[in-house]
Amino acid sequence: MAERVLRRNDMEGWTRAAPNLYPHQWSWDSGFIAIGLAHLDTARAAQELTSLFEHQWRNGKVPHIVFNPDAPPDSYFPGPEHWSSAGAYPEAPPAPPYTSCLCQPPTHALGALRVWELAQERDQADVARGFLSEIYPKLLAWHRYLATERDPEGSGLVTINHPWESGTDNSPRWDGALQNVEVGDLPPFERQDLDDVDHPTERPTDEEYARYLWLVELIKRVRCDDAELYGSHPFLVKDVLFSAILVAANETLLEIAGVVGAPEEDMVLIEAWISRGRAGLDEQWDPGLGLCVDHDLRRNAPLRVRTVGGFAPLVAGGQTPDRLDALLRTLYSTAFLGNPNLRRPLPPSTSPTEAHFQPRNYWRGPVWPVISWLLWRSLVRAGERDRAYDLRRVALQELSGGNFAEYYEPFTGEPLGSDDQSWTAAVTLDWLSYDDEAW
Ligand code: SER
Repeated sequence: MAERVLRRNDMEGWTRAAPNLYPHQWSWDSGFIAIGLAHLDTARAAQELTSLFEHQWRNGKVPHIVFNPDAPPDSYFPGPEHWSSAGAYPEAPPAPPYTSCLCQPPTHALGALRVWELAQERDQADVARGFLSEIYPKLLAWHRYLATERDPEGSGLVTINHPWESGTDNSPRWDGALQNVEVGDLPPFERQDLDDVDHPTERPTDEEYARYLWLVELIKRVRCDDAELYGSHPFLVKDVLFSAILVAANETLLEIAGVVGAPEEDMVLIEAWISRGRAGLDEQWDPGLGLCVDHDLRRNAPLRVRTVGGFAPLVAGGQTPDRLDALLRTLYSTAFLGNPNLRRPLPPSTSPTEAHFQPRNYWRGPVWPVISWLLWRSLVRAGERDRAYDLRRVALQELSGGNFAEYYEPFTGEPLGSDDQSWTAAVTLDWLSYDDEAW
């Protein structure tokens, strides 16, 4: 069934994130989708990433959306016309197809390495090696962009300038920082996303959308110049989950560098990024919460909220035994997996103990299978065999309903958002083929 979802969403060379709600190619979805496709077809999995990277910006940025020129005009808002000047920005690639000005967490190296690993099992190593050689310099340029333009302080933490860049759009992680954003003169807009869900309470509010659109407007006004944004933009946040995914991606990039025979100086650089990333996350550790917290650069203040984003150091890996213990204590506490009201012990995107928790609303509470997959992968890498086994088993139970939903209500297990979400199907395929005995 998962395979069928990926085939149905295949647009010949790239995969739409979902059949109706998301008819374009989304950046961080593609990294997960490549992992799923790697179980089905090496060349097609590779193509998922090469097609995305065809639209990489000149400065290395990978756009968060590549718009499908054939999608019906009113199928997604804000559609390509909203970003249409993207083709004219100094760093933007030729358009059409148009791309958004934003980026998303760098899951791509994780996808690329999985393509390589699985290709060897089915005698496709040559195809995969060719793909790695082609994608490696592009991945390196992408990670370099994040390590420099998005971290001029050299803190090891990536700065985002829009909640959409975090991928966790309306998470309460951003509530504090969004208070700095005063919406200016915005033309009236009509949302499309609300037509594709059962109830508007499953999506961000209109007030949040107004802020999202205003921030896009401000980014366009400075022609997407990151240095200018640093001076002027009202939403500037160090995102710990994004930063941790970058650390994990750099670890896999190091492996890819080994396969393609990259020069020693690349290895040294990537290793430095990994250490700097982990050190940056360390600085954001909040002992009171037992979690890592994001940082609002505008107010120079930590954003103290219990969300899955707080498990960033687990995702980054390489933690001391004490820190790992502290993270696991929080993960299994009543704030997360140990919460007695959960339908299944799967991580709610926001802790039910938070005042802003909403069990049906997008990133304010629901369980997202891709996040469960990320935490599962992190547990595997941390050597937490039994915990990883349980998380995978329970996640697959929830997915066996066959909806491949975007997210799930944590207290009932009800599928929410879009059905047939590509990345949900992709992580299902990866989980189904995992051999716990191979440890
Ligand atoms: N996730 C956003 C949306 O819901 C865009 O990236 O449309």
